[in-house]
Amino acid sequence: EKEGYAHFMMKEINEQPKGVYDTLHRRLDKEDNIVLDGIKLTKDDLDKINKVYIVACGTAYHAGLIGKYAIEKFAKIPVDVEVASEFRYREPFIDENTLFIAVSQSGETLDTLAALREAKRKGARILSVVNVVGSSVARESDDVFYTWAGPEIAVASTKAYTTQLVSMYLIALHMAMTKGSLTNEEYKKYIEELKAMPGKIEKILENNEVIQQLADEQFNSENVFYIGRGLDVYVAYEGSLKLKEISYIHSEAIAAGELKHGTIALIEEGRLVIALATQDKLYDKMLSNIQEVRARGAYVIGVAKQGNKEIEKSADKVIYIPDTLDELSPILSVIPLQILAYYIAVARGCDVDKPKNLAKSVTVE
Ligand code: M6R
Repeated sequence: EKEGYAHFMMKEINEQPKGVYDTLHRRLDKEDNIVLDGIKLTKDDLDKINKVYIVACGTAYHAGLIGKYAIEKFAKIPVDVEVASEFRYREPFIDENTLFIAVSQSGETLDTLAALREAKRKGARILSVVNVVGSSVARESDDVFYTWAGPEIAVASTKAYTTQLVSMYLIALHMAMTKGSLTNEEYKKYIEELKAMPGKIEKILENNEVIQQLADEQFNSENVFYIGRGLDVYVAYEGSLKLKEISYIHSEAIAAGELKHGTIALIEEGRLVIALATQDKLYDKMLSNIQEVRARGAYVIGVAKQGNKEIEKSADKVIYIPDTLDELSPILSVIPLQILAYYIAVARGCDVDKPKNLAKSVTVE
């Protein structure tokens, strides 16, 4: 079943080009228009929607954060993202003009399901982004946008995440084109780049050994920090979660601009910092942050687009991803972080596919 891979997680990391391709191409017609089939998001519907909530847990929540960015940027509708276990216990403003988006690989996460039911009771339209066909979340939603990741076995989510990202971008782009908030040229630019993603992910996967070598050098690290700005912050959250759950190394992800407001106190000699610097607009600011932590002794592994080599002067090591649009870079920048967490966990002798204390789907409160 593992098809020659040592673990399901590595097999699933390698299935991402296919998952991303399938999720995208299921939704594009011959003219590259997005087809949502049964999903009812007409212009009338969208004109009514004045608020979107994206609710999920864990990795799916991290995909939701990027969904918020995409919907706000492309479709110009305000979005809140929240973990389901918090959302369901407060009193969010929900009415019939609210679109509630649940994101879940399994479609069985109890908190996500309970939040969905609460939103439905208050009259919201329910759209879910789900991987498992016919799961509880899918069945209880008004509309379902399926991710085409295929079965995900490893507890640590990888291909579900990247296919959730593609889904969120497609939903956002579709909303934008229906509302008329994006030009045809802009739309084409994003679709072309989405279509290039499977090939670009392949390129990163071919670079596997460089990342493995870094993991072999760093597997004894404790208290690892992930920093970034803009969309990179959300990818940092995901990279940090991946490392924690499979390698049992404590780690923390923060917005790089927040370092000075407290966390930099913890940076000392030899502290491993993973610095994401994929956003062109924020690149120089990130280089300053890297210099800041290095001045305090941190060992910095940077993640940057291959066109941006300047970072080599600041970071100790750099992992490059292919050049891409800032808005879509999370689909690529997460891949090295998945691979790094994987090899660190392997080097520490951890049970990668079945980490202690964790279940694949959390069906209890
Ligand atoms: O099945 P779901 O997407 O609803 O699961 C949500 C989380 O439990 C899940 O993403 C969890 O955080 C993963 N173990 C992360 O790798």
